[in-house]
Amino acid sequence: MNLIESDARYKEVERFVRTSLSGFDGGHDWMHILRVLNTSLYIYEHEEGADLDIVVLGALLHDIDDRKFSDSDPKQKITSLLGILGFDQYHIDSVIDINRNISFSSSDKIIHKSLELMIVQDADRLDAIGAIGIARAFNYGGFKNRKIYDPDYKIAQAGDMEAYRSSASPTINHFYEKLLLLKGLMNTPTARKLAEERHRFMEMYLEQFYREWDIGK
Ligand code: ADP
Ligand code: NI
Repeated sequence: MNLIESDARYKEVERFVRTSLSGFDGGHDWMHILRVLNTSLYIYEHEEGADLDIVVLGALLHDIDDRKFSDSDPKQKITSLLGILGFDQYHIDSVIDINRNISFSSSDKIIHKSLELMIVQDADRLDAIGAIGIARAFNYGGFKNRKIYDPDYKIAQAGDMEAYRSSASPTINHFYEKLLLLKGLMNTPTARKLAEERHRFMEMYLEQFYREWDIGK
């Protein structure tokens, strides 16, 4: 029996998340949440000292009310859901902390990260790189009607988050603006190890991409 099936409270959270995410693009669907949960559990098993409930709930609820899709405050929703299910304030606050601080853009502003935040953030970032990350990037680009590649389009400067969010840059640019940076941002040694292979795969992918693009040149 899998972990979610083993606990009626987790099952209830799954139901809530599935409903909340319906209508999102394919990169942000329930399958993304499940991959992040599984990767979080893998990291949890290889690192010591994290709280399992917080890792599981943090992974399940990490994309609720993603700022790109919604302006509403996830805090209330998470508080009432987990409160009804009987979780204590410490667990509720820890899950809200993960939801609030997981994203790429807000991550460099936080000073202290809980171990559970580090784990779920690593898992979320691992899902953005490697073969799956490449699939998600082009899926997102298609969702936004972006070009695949345009050799004349400049890469956005690091730190210019406004330009990054609003830019209509081709999806290949996103590799340089974000995906190739993620390996260096992993929190845990376990994730750092997993990131190596996925990072190399993206580099190989880009080399092959340009070879095909520049055929005959
Ligand atoms: P995070 O989970 O860190 O908030 P996002 O929600 O920004 O990540 O992105 C979700 C997925 O969509 C990731 O796989 C990411 O690489 C991809 N994505 C986000 N922005 C772009 C973009 N401008 N071009 C291509 N892919 C993107
Ligand atoms: Ni996510």
